Amino acid sequence: MTQTELLSASPKGIGRAAELLRDGQLVAFPTETVYGLGGDACAGRAVARIYEAKGRPSFNPLIAHVADLATARAFADFSDDALRLATAFWPGPLTIVLPVRADAGLSTLATAGLTTIGLRVPDHESARALLTAFGGPVAAPSANLSGRISPTTAAHVMAGLSGKIAAVLDDGPCSIGVESTIVGFELGEAALLRPGGLPVEAIEACLGRPLLTPHTSETPSAPGQLQSHYAPKAAVRLNVTDPRDDEIFLGFGAVECAALNLSPSGDLVEAASELFNALHILDDQGVETIAVSPIPDTGLGRAINDRLRRAAAPRN
Ligand code: TXA
Ligand code: MG
Repeated sequence: MTQTELLSASPKGIGRAAELLRDGQLVAFPTETVYGLGGDACAGRAVARIYEAKGRPSFNPLIAHVADLATARAFADFSDDALRLATAFWPGPLTIVLPVRADAGLSTLATAGLTTIGLRVPDHESARALLTAFGGPVAAPSANLSGRISPTTAAHVMAGLSGKIAAVLDDGPCSIGVESTIVGFELGEAALLRPGGLPVEAIEACLGRPLLTPHTSETPSAPGQLQSHYAPKAAVRLNVTDPRDDEIFLGFGAVECAALNLSPSGDLVEAASELFNALHILDDQGVETIAVSPIPDTGLGRAINDRLRRAAAPRN
């Protein structure tokens, strides 16, 4: 159990929050939409701790928060339309999903193994002061336990996450109170991935044409499900203790002859932080089947197993 620090939005409090982020710890912070649960987006273990603290049973890609557009451009490739939106609406309640730059250094757990990243510059003085002081991208989902209501005050955050995170930066209630609008691009066309704090009409007026709304045409699904989660080309066989000769073995814990091991010491935080990276590396070997050790189905293990089951599910 961690003693969660309640920090005021003073230079001292913001400095402390940035220091905790640099140390790989989790800090909840205010934005104009909702409070976010922040961790260093380039540190796999910090990102793994976000899922652990929220008790999320699956890995959704997370939004990376940055201080300004110039910083954002170091992490993703902006099309002309993306630049137009960012220039018009940042800082503000708009998340733009874009192709991640190969040299970005983002944790593959933050992107859930996808080749895209959701980026956002919050319109909140303390949030941007924290992002500037920290100096890097901060991955942050809403700072609530999985399945609970998004928090719009520091007290809401404390009610759910006290004892599970290092600190909460308190700067009063959020002005908007609903999450950001998320826009992505489908074959170059802007698409609405999640309605939110920025009205769709404003986005359409800026682009001069309607947004695609992929979710209304098909069975509604959770945001982020549209660009399907990363699936390896290889087949995946689970709960394997004795891999066959023609399989490549992804181990966990004290196992022999693994091509890669998610965590030789059996640490689920480490395993989560390595998962997508390991799948990518093994998939790139061009084998037909990746065999995976059993993973305990507790804590972060539930999210790891959820992801592995999807990877192992029959393909269309
Ligand atoms: O207002 C907000 O957006 C708040 C504050 C803290 O900034 N954050 C937030 O994060 O709502 P979260 O994790 O609760 O929602 C992020 C959504 C997820 O549903 C995820 O699926 C989607 O964004 N998303 C993130 N990256 C994506 C990507 N590369 N492709 C598709 N969807 C993505
Ligand atoms: Mg949320």
